[in-house]
Amino acid sequence: MIKVRAAITGVNGYVPEYVLTNKELTTMVDTNDEWIQSRTGVKERRILKGVGQGSSVMGAEAVKGLCEKRGIDPSEIDMLICATATPDMIFPATANLIADKVGAVNAFGYDVMAACSGFLFALTTASKFIESGSHKKVVVVGADKMSSIVDYTDRATCIIFGDGAGAVLLEPSEDENVIIDAVLRSDGSGAEFLHLKAGGSARPASHETVDNKEHFIYQEGQTVFKFAVKKMAEVSVEVMERNNLNGDDIDWLVPHQANKRIIDATANMMDLDHAKVMLNIEKYGNTTSGTLPLCLWDWEDKLKKGDNLILAAFGGGFTWGALYLKWAYDFN
Ligand code: UT7
Repeated sequence: MIKVRAAITGVNGYVPEYVLTNKELTTMVDTNDEWIQSRTGVKERRILKGVGQGSSVMGAEAVKGLCEKRGIDPSEIDMLICATATPDMIFPATANLIADKVGAVNAFGYDVMAACSGFLFALTTASKFIESGSHKKVVVVGADKMSSIVDYTDRATCIIFGDGAGAVLLEPSEDENVIIDAVLRSDGSGAEFLHLKAGGSARPASHETVDNKEHFIYQEGQTVFKFAVKKMAEVSVEVMERNNLNGDDIDWLVPHQANKRIIDATANMMDLDHAKVMLNIEKYGNTTSGTLPLCLWDWEDKLKKGDNLILAAFGGGFTWGALYLKWAYDFN
C-alpha cells in the first residue's frame, strides 16, 4: 500500500505595518543599536497597533492570503491548528477565531501552546491527521502578538520580540516531497526560567499581579540562551543522523529566530554553510510561533521542489525540536 504523507503545498505570512526600530527603543529603555544588533541580530520588529486587535487578526490575514495564493476557498479547509503563546483570549481557541474570520466554516480547530516551538509541534500534529487519511486540507498557523506581553521598561526582553504570523497548507502526497521526520522534546523543569507569572489558573489576574508586572514575559536570558544553543543543535543533528544526512545534503536550515548567536551555533553544529540558513530576525525579531512560517514565506521564491529542509526551534517550557522535510513545489 502506498503511504500517504503530508506535503506543504503553500505558505503565506503577515506582519503588521508599524516598525519599531532599535532607535525608537533607545527612547524607551537604556540601550543602543550596537548592543542590540551585536547581541541579538535584531534591527527592527513589527508591532500590531489598535484596540481589540489580537493574534487572530494577523493569523486570519496570513490564512486569507494563503487561500488566495493557492486558489482554494476557505470552506475547503477541514482542519486549522493555531500555534500561539498569545491567544486572543484564554478561551475560545484562537484557531476558532481565525477560522471564523476567514470563513473556514468546515474546519475544526484548536490551539497548540508550546511557546516558541509551537509551530513545529503544531506542524507535526497536523501531519499526522493527513497521514491518517482523515483530513485533506489542514492549515497550520503560527501567530503571536508578543507586544501584548512584553514589558517595554525591561531592556533585556523588549529588544527581542515582535508581532507576526505565518501559515502553511498541508495536503496528502504520495511522493517523497513531504514531512519526513521530527524529533520533539519538552522538559517542564525549565519553566522557571521563562514564563508568564500570572493570568493563568495558578495565579489569576488581580490588582497585585498587575502592580507587580506579572503579566509580562519573565526570562532569565543567559540560562535560556545556554539551553537553546545546546538543545536546538542537539535535535537538529539527531534528525539529520537518523535520516543519514550531512551538512552538504541540507539545502536550508529554517531556525527559530530568537537570537542570531543561537542560530549561528546551531548551523556550526550541523556543519552547515551559513549561506543556507534562513535569517530574518533583523527585520521581525522573535515572533515566537510566527518565526518558522515567516521564514518559509520570505524564502518561498528561492525554494525548489525536492530541497532538504531542517526546521528547528527552542522555547519556553522548555520545548524544542527539529523536523526534516522535502519541499514540495517550485515557486512561479
Ligand atoms: O525564543 C525563546 C527562547 N528565548 C531565547 O532563546 C532567548 C535567549 N537569551 C538571549 O537571547 C540573551 O540572553 C538576551 C538577548 C536576552 C540577553 O543577552 P545576553 O548577552 O545574555 O545579556 P545578559 O542578560 O547576560 O546581560 C549582559 C549585560 C548586562 O550588563 P552587566 O550586568 O554586564 O553590566 C545587562 O544589564 O548587558 C546588559 N543588557 C543590555 N545592555 C544594553 C541587557 N540588555 C541590554 C540592552 N542594552 N538591551
